[in-house]
Amino acid sequence: MSIDIGKYLEEKRQLVDRYLETHLPPVGTSPAVLHEAIRYSLLAGGKRIRPILTIAAAEAIGPPPLSLPPVACAFEFIHTYSLIHDDLPAMDNDDFRRGKPTNHKVYGDGMAILAGDGLQTMAFEWCSRADLVIDIDPRTQVQIIAELALGSGNDGMVGGQVLDIQAENQQEISLEELQNIHAHKTGKLIRAAVRVGALLSGAGMTQFEQLTKYAEDIGLAFQIADDVLNVTGTREELGKDANTDAERGKQTYPSFYGLEGAKKLAQECADRAIGRLASFDDKADPLRGIAQYIVSRRK
Ligand code: IPE
Ligand code: IPE
Ligand code: MG
Ligand code: MG
Repeated sequence: MSIDIGKYLEEKRQLVDRYLETHLPPVGTSPAVLHEAIRYSLLAGGKRIRPILTIAAAEAIGPPPLSLPPVACAFEFIHTYSLIHDDLPAMDNDDFRRGKPTNHKVYGDGMAILAGDGLQTMAFEWCSRADLVIDIDPRTQVQIIAELALGSGNDGMVGGQVLDIQAENQQEISLEELQNIHAHKTGKLIRAAVRVGALLSGAGMTQFEQLTKYAEDIGLAFQIADDVLNVTGTREELGKDANTDAERGKQTYPSFYGLEGAKKLAQECADRAIGRLASFDDKADPLRGIAQYIVSRRK
């Protein structure tokens, strides 16, 4: 593999951040407090791994269309909305995110809920705006919007969050249940991000299926790594409070397999993901690098 993945991730992160900065409703747009709350969480940093996956998946197939950036950013909107709501007192009740006090700590619960709602809607707006999405055929565009909805909604991230809440009130859950929670709350949006990248570049059926498998493997690896970092990371590194899973008695991959066992499993998922790309050429090197990055990251 010939690529410096750290450099690639930094370049694409900057690209996403620049696109967001220049296309978001400007500061002061009415209602000003809503747009301030949206910007507060969205522009607080974040690895931008979901939009970067959309970009990398598109580039793995061929030259991406001009409509790639707004569609990629839609995944960051959904993700940031999910974080704002996930941190609310009614959910995980967390005080710290992306290195800053959580949205509701600054703007109050009501405004945090609305900032999340606004971001969610904006995701669909950006995928359907005629001035932003300019070179995709309408059928593909509708397919992309459907992928975004399926990854986010009742059978995607939201469904996973429901299972996650239900599991907190259970004494014991099985490993199968844990995997199902992860596959939905984190996996489905990551899967959609990759599939949408593939759709944008016109992937053939076989490539589309291989990329889907890749995405499912890294989605699981990503959440296992998140569970591991919750145990091993610090607030300074993570930008959010550490050790919260144990404090809440939450069952996680480390609680099932131990820390080393969970790390090994995450690595196996990443290796499997890379294996899914066997028939791709070096344009898929960023995807290979991202799979490894996901399990080696420190934040
Ligand atoms: C954290 O997501 C929540 C999970 C779904 C595991 P990220 O680790 O991608 O958080 P940011 O976007 O970099 O802040
Ligand atoms: C977050 O999961 C998943 C979503 C927001 C969909 P967690 O609650 O496990 O992640 P952190 O630790 O708050 O980032
Ligand atoms: Mg949660
Ligand atoms: Mg949480």
